[in-house]
Amino acid sequence: MSLPKVIADTPLDAVIEGLLAGKVEVLPWDSAKQRRDDVAAVYTYGHPLVDGAMLDRLPQVKVISNYGVGVDHIQLAEAAKRGIPVGNTPGILDGATADMGFTLLLAAGRRLCEGDRYARSPDFTRYDPGYILGREIHSATLGIIGLGRIGRQVAKRANGFDMTVIYHNRRRDEEAERLLGVRYASFDEILAASDYVMLCCPLTDQTRGLINAAALAKMKRTAILINLARGPVVDTTALTDALAQKRIYGAALDVTDPEPLPRDHPLLALENVTIAPHLGSATVQTRTKMAEISVENLLLGLAGKPLKYRVA
Ligand code: DGY
Repeated sequence: MSLPKVIADTPLDAVIEGLLAGKVEVLPWDSAKQRRDDVAAVYTYGHPLVDGAMLDRLPQVKVISNYGVGVDHIQLAEAAKRGIPVGNTPGILDGATADMGFTLLLAAGRRLCEGDRYARSPDFTRYDPGYILGREIHSATLGIIGLGRIGRQVAKRANGFDMTVIYHNRRRDEEAERLLGVRYASFDEILAASDYVMLCCPLTDQTRGLINAAALAKMKRTAILINLARGPVVDTTALTDALAQKRIYGAALDVTDPEPLPRDHPLLALENVTIAPHLGSATVQTRTKMAEISVENLLLGLAGKPLKYRVA
């Protein structure tokens, strides 16, 4: 009996390969460049675009399973129009992603990457109390944009660092205010009052380009921007200008737009930015859980059963 065929953006990690072995036949992403009537599912491992045109070429697809929580690369309305369920992996990566947000905050505030580069360089021959002075973290104000599952976990960590936490969401979250001692603020107040502004929101039509030149101009000159969300929430050119002209103190980015940046992009030459290659959920434990849930969603969808986690 032949196995159901699944289009995936290969190479997949070994855990996923193991979970899929003997259950499905994986075809490379390029197979979807032409019409295929024998493909039953799509598995998105990185963030490849799944649009209506692709789904038109794959009319037998019964499920789209995403490895990860963010599904901005999948046109959900196009999937819904065709009755195709889309699965993702919520709830299991909040802790790891919030840890990464805090890692970036600490690294940028205390200029850890600059310090690391200097400590390895031939220039470090004498300790000098005046070099690489960073910004205080304890007692500073953290503004979280997007107090969802990940944002809440970030707020918990910030409480442990004696930070004042304000947040901005589409709606006030009074339960979070009670549980976490956070205060709702307007978008403009977040920009004006925060020493650290952390983006934890999904990429939507409303958040695309949210941090543009005008928003950056409202931030304190001593403030640090942390992007834990998606690259396009920030206007890369505006951020590069603001950092180059020291209109804000620094930035720490887990995601960029485009991703990766061209190797000669001017942002990469700046000292006051710390960049990680999209490592939010990248721990062995969390990535293993993501593999398990995304494969479970895929197999449930192929069997015509309800997905464990369904976005749309
Ligand atoms: C997510 O879960 O959305 C992460 O960015 C990994 O894709």
